[in-house]
Amino acid sequence: MQHIRANVISNREIADGYYELEFILPDTAQAPLPGQFLTVRVTDANVPLLRRPFAFSSWDEPTRRAAIIYQKRGSATAILTGAGEGDELDLLSPLGNSFPDPGVTDDGSQRRPVLLAGGIGMGPMFYLAEDLSRRGHRPLLAVGARSASLLPEISGYSSVETIIATDDGSYPGGYAGNVVAALEAFAAADGSPGTYELYACGPEVMMKAAWDWAQMRDLPCWVSMEQTMGCAVGACMGCVVQVHDDRQYARVCAEGPVFPGGYIKWH
Ligand SMILES: Cc1cc2nc3c(=O)[nH]c(=O)nc-3n(C[C@H](O)[C@H](O)[C@H](O)COP(=O)(O)OP(=O)(O)OC[C@H]3O[C@@H](n4cnc5c(N)ncnc54)[C@H](O)[C@@H]3O)c2cc1C
Ligand code: FES
Repeated sequence: MQHIRANVISNREIADGYYELEFILPDTAQAPLPGQFLTVRVTDANVPLLRRPFAFSSWDEPTRRAAIIYQKRGSATAILTGAGEGDELDLLSPLGNSFPDPGVTDDGSQRRPVLLAGGIGMGPMFYLAEDLSRRGHRPLLAVGARSASLLPEISGYSSVETIIATDDGSYPGGYAGNVVAALEAFAAADGSPGTYELYACGPEVMMKAAWDWAQMRDLPCWVSMEQTMGCAVGACMGCVVQVHDDRQYARVCAEGPVFPGGYIKWH
């Protein structure tokens, strides 16, 4: 983890209430891995006091261009929407662990990474899809939202095979229903769902559904948890989740944010 300053190159609304913030990481900054996050101090004033966590949505080593996709929610993200080209970001980065590579099945076949993204979980899944495909994997990206207006133009963010689900069926050509139901429909028509390895980031209810789906089929499943954070560096216990472990709790910022789905005590 490093304390760095990064220059904003753009900050634009890409869907209703969703923004993409692009910036250049200095040469001395460590490269972020898919699943890792940063925290940003959005103001020099005392309010809001706490840094806010956001997952990396892309990273390009040669140009050192990085990005996050964030939803405008409260005071900090409202301030962040005002950042513009040339502004300096005060960051702690990179934080947390990262998504593991897909493994192999019992008969030695390479597993197919299946990425489920919902809402603010889009960013880390776009980066994971981009990274896996760059390294020769064949990811499937499944993106879910309540409505089409909450989705960016996906082809601008991912060139991998993608299925899109909206609760209200408003995305043309997409699936009407939730993203796990869309995956179920895709898998029913696919020849090799037994090779899937799931990666999920989004609302907890969606990640639990992804874990249930994977568990029923005996597939590996990784989830990226999003808890409200205090310090974001492992010191305050403000971000714990209940886990199946003697310690009972794990810190999302330090041991996570990525965990095996079966390690989380879902509520
Ligand atoms: C590891 C990690 C990665 C994250 N990545 C992203 C990302 O890529 N894009 C993105 O838009 N957001 C992401 N978040 C959530 C983001 O940090 C919060 O949305 C942000 O801190 C809200 O700040 P605010 O001051 O605008 O809103 P606040 O006033 O702090 O909160 C506004 C509303 O959002 C809820 N909220 C705040 N923080 C969280 C949280 N962590 N999870 C769920 N609900 C929350 C609050 O309960 C409240 O209802 C991530 C969080 C974590 C822990
Ligand atoms: S936010 Fe302080 S320990 Fe995780």
